[in-house]
Amino acid sequence: MPLTDVIGGPRPGTPARRATPRRLLMCRPQHFDVSYRINPWMHPEKPVDTDLAVLQWEQLAEQYRSLGHTVELIDPVEGLPDMVFAANGATVVDGKVLAARFRHAQRTAEGPAYLDWFVRNGYQDVLWPEFINEGEGDYLQVGRRILAGTGFRTDQRSHAEAQEFFGRPVTSLTLVNPNHYHLDTALAVLSPDEIMYWPAAFTPGSRAVLREMFPDAVLASDEDAAVFGLNAFSDGLNVLLPSAATGLIAALRERGFNPIGTELGELLKAGGSVKCCTLELGDA
Ligand code: ARG
Repeated sequence: MPLTDVIGGPRPGTPARRATPRRLLMCRPQHFDVSYRINPWMHPEKPVDTDLAVLQWEQLAEQYRSLGHTVELIDPVEGLPDMVFAANGATVVDGKVLAARFRHAQRTAEGPAYLDWFVRNGYQDVLWPEFINEGEGDYLQVGRRILAGTGFRTDQRSHAEAQEFFGRPVTSLTLVNPNHYHLDTALAVLSPDEIMYWPAAFTPGSRAVLREMFPDAVLASDEDAAVFGLNAFSDGLNVLLPSAATGLIAALRERGFNPIGTELGELLKAGGSVKCCTLELGDA
């Protein structure tokens, strides 16, 4: 059965949901490690099992494929242990590519590595940015709009640069909790007009903006946010998220989504999970 014919909605009365097949870019964590500390999750003194990270990542990629999505691969580069977090590699909207410029020296070489993939794969409208931005870690598309995070990584001036480049309205949101240093660790897009988020990750002003834009959003509990439950991918029906986020899983089911719990514990040691491993290229 083609993916687009899968209609969700386990409970009568919940909206019919439809999955849209997507093209996703991923990077095998062959050189994954925690050898430096640029967020509070990272403890370089603790061991990391790279083989297990690869296995968990393979399961995520396989899950995407089995749902009908296309997974493109970028070659991992030795010496770039965080390159598995493909979401940070760029932002793609309408086939236009805003390249990433990383905040920390340990990751700066990832920007050109990802940019090179886009150029070699025929993307023509590509911008090397003036301001620091960590790709789809801080830029999330919701329908026609773009939500943009700042506070830890992406420079707020990048938001105007992105709005000018993409020609889409960009809404700035400021993060305040160092454990949730990228927007995609505090907020996930579920459909063209639905999101879920953890209010405590944002300044009061940003919380008010989110309340106004998305009065019916799913709000995450502290517990679900703390296990990175918001670092999720949704195709409009299926929502892949860390399996420990049990409250969100129940809330999503209630709303007619099909939540799918995933195990990415090794990658969480670097402060990343489902969405971080996934750069969305657009519809397939
Ligand atoms: N260790 C990486 C960092 O701190 C993790 C990146 C997670 N990626 C994301 N999209 N949230 O930069």
